Order: sequence, then C-alpha cells, then structure tokens
Amino acid sequence: MTTTLIDNIGLLVTNDQSCGDGSALGVVRDAAMVIEADRVAWVGQRAHAPSADERVDLDRQTVVPGFVDSHSHLIFASDRADEFASRMAGTPYTAGGIGATLIATREASDSTLRTNASRLVAEMVSSGTTTVEIKSGYGLTTDDEVRGLAIAQSLTPESTFLGAHVVPIEYQGRRDDYVSLVAGSMLDACAPGTRWIDVFCDRGAFSVDEARLILQAGVARGLLPRLHAHQLDRTGAVQLGVELDAASVDHCNHMSKADVEALAGSATVATVLPGADFSTRSVYADARRMIDAGVVVAIATDCNPGSSYTTSMPFCIAVAVRDMHLTPAEALWAATAGGARALRRDDIGVLAVGKRADFAVIAAPSYVHVAYRPGVALVTATWKSVT
Ligand code: NIG
Ligand code: FE
Repeated sequence: MTTTLIDNIGLLVTNDQSCGDGSALGVVRDAAMVIEADRVAWVGQRAHAPSADERVDLDRQTVVPGFVDSHSHLIFASDRADEFASRMAGTPYTAGGIGATLIATREASDSTLRTNASRLVAEMVSSGTTTVEIKSGYGLTTDDEVRGLAIAQSLTPESTFLGAHVVPIEYQGRRDDYVSLVAGSMLDACAPGTRWIDVFCDRGAFSVDEARLILQAGVARGLLPRLHAHQLDRTGAVQLGVELDAASVDHCNHMSKADVEALAGSATVATVLPGADFSTRSVYADARRMIDAGVVVAIATDCNPGSSYTTSMPFCIAVAVRDMHLTPAEALWAATAGGARALRRDDIGVLAVGKRADFAVIAAPSYVHVAYRPGVALVTATWKSVT
C-alpha cells in the first residue's frame, strides 16, 4: 500500500490531547504526517518522520482536521433570496418559509435536486469540510422524501430523515394524520440506508409530544435520534433530546438553566448554528455559557435556502468567535471534534494513528487566522479519505 508523507507543516492541529502541546487541540509545530490508504499512519515532528513512498511539501501551512458539518439541508430546489432581503428589512423569520421551498422541490426533477446538492457539497469541500450530514425534509410526501434521501445517501453516509420538518399545506387541519404518516409508512419507506431521524420541534413546527412519538418510531426502526431544538422558543425539546439520548440538539438559542444542566450531564451535544443566527438576525445561541457549564458544543452550517444559505464552516467559526464568544481554539474544536461527537463518530475529527486521513490545509501560520481573516478563502486543499 502506498504511503504518503505530508511534510513541512508549520502548525498541525490533531485534536489529540496526548499529542504535541497537551492542549485540547493537540498542536504540533514543525510537523509531518504519514497517511496510508484512508488512514493516518504516523503523526509527529517532521525531524522524526519515517520515510514514505511519496512526499507532499506543504510549505509551512497549517493543517487542521477536516471540518465536520453535522447539520445541513441540501436537498431542495430554488432559493429564498427575497425572503432574506425582506428579513434584513425587518420581517422576522418563521418556520412558514419552508412551504415555499417545498413547492419548488416537489416540482423539481431528480437531476435538478442532485445537481444542486452536489454543487453545495463541492462548495463545502472547497472550504475544508470532509464530512457532512444531509437531511431530507423539503419533500414531505413519501415519494419525495425517499428520493431526497437517495440523493443524500449518494453524497454522505450521514443521511437524516426529516419528514417532520413542518406539516405540509395539504395536511392543514389534519396534523395528527401527518404525524401518523411520518411515524408510520413514510418512515418505513425512508428508513433503509438512512442513519438518523430528526424533528423540527419548535413553534410553528412540531410539539414535544409529536417529536417524541416520531423519534421513538424512528429508533424502533434502527435510526438514531437528533433534533432541532429551541431555535424559536423554549419548548422542552432540549430535555426531550436528553431523555431520548439524542446525539445532538441543534440551534439552542433559548436555554434555561435546567436545559443547560441537563445537557451538561448527558451524552447529547449542543450544536450551534452561527450562520442561521446571522442570517435570521437572531440573538446568538449562548455557546460560551454552555461550554462554561461543561456542555459539549459543536458548530455546523445548517446550510438551507431559508435560514442559513452558507456552506462555509470557516465563516461559521468566525461568527462563533466574534458573536458567540468562543476562543478560536474552542471554535475550531467545535467545528471538527465537536461535529464528530454530534455524529457519534470516533474515526473523524481527530488526526491520530488509525483515524481517517481527513484534513484541511490553511494558507496561514495558525488556525487563529480562520476567524481573524473572515470571508477570506484560506483553505488551499482538502484531503478526504476515500472509502
Ligand atoms: O434549521 N429550522 C428548521 N429548519 C431549517 C430552516 C429551514 C428553512 O427555513 O427552510 C433550520 O434553520
Ligand atoms: Fe436545520
């Protein structure tokens, strides 16, 4: 098997505390890494690097684990630029906008949906993302959800059934029927090949009791639960996530002391979505408070045509540092190792022997520049192990 020496790394972030400077980021200066097939075979100071079949010279750039974007909605057609413009003029964000994307998505051909999602994944990769979770949820008929998930599954192993995004218009006044459909035959059709089940549990979408029923039905069919929680209101969704051992509760804008304490004592990650808070002009999720309380925090893009039309994890890191008061080190960890935790993966988000050789190369002397130079395309290469 061919080995490749990634040499002359000015600063390497491993996220392996036993490596390098002993910090959570496990920083090694003047570093090198050997990769073999899809895995890391050696990490350390370049002076001690073993020989390899091939050598790549990174000219003292920074290397970080590839970004793990644990929350996105990429299966849709059309966009909602007008809604964004009117929001910036003062109209508040509501769950209702999802209906506009629903109509366009149902009308779109498979190839339009596939091309759009592939283009967005390509954008993600070019800004350093190596793992992305992709949700369905803009079809909301059994056939549309099945075809959306088929596209998601062709792009990532981290596909999520989000039949419970909103109650579609044709079920107005019959929401119990829609909940039964999602938790019944739609779920049966969507479960094969899908890893996760999600519910938008918030004002204007689904209640805690509806979310519990749907998520438990998913778990009974072998799916793992995660949910949208407390973006618009404090509904009890965060504590539902803890109750169900959800891998992650996402958004977390409206949090009580009890919510934060429940998360801190659990295996459920709080995923904050800086792009959504930015683009809906919301009060930012208080990631600082959650980290200080011992909650594991992840950062994701929430890429979707309504509340957060960005594919850029570097942008989200910059906003998390500037407006959620994370240190650059905390934000980088949350966007890599934190995302891996939110997907319950231990093979990504860390550059250590045996882990996946997924990493981003940054044209800067330090990872701090990701936040320090917002909006600048600093990622010069994304290495993604192929399996
Ligand atoms: O995570 N909140 C629910 N879903 C998306 C928004 C979807 C939309 O507005 O189209 C979100 O922000
Ligand atoms: Fe979302």
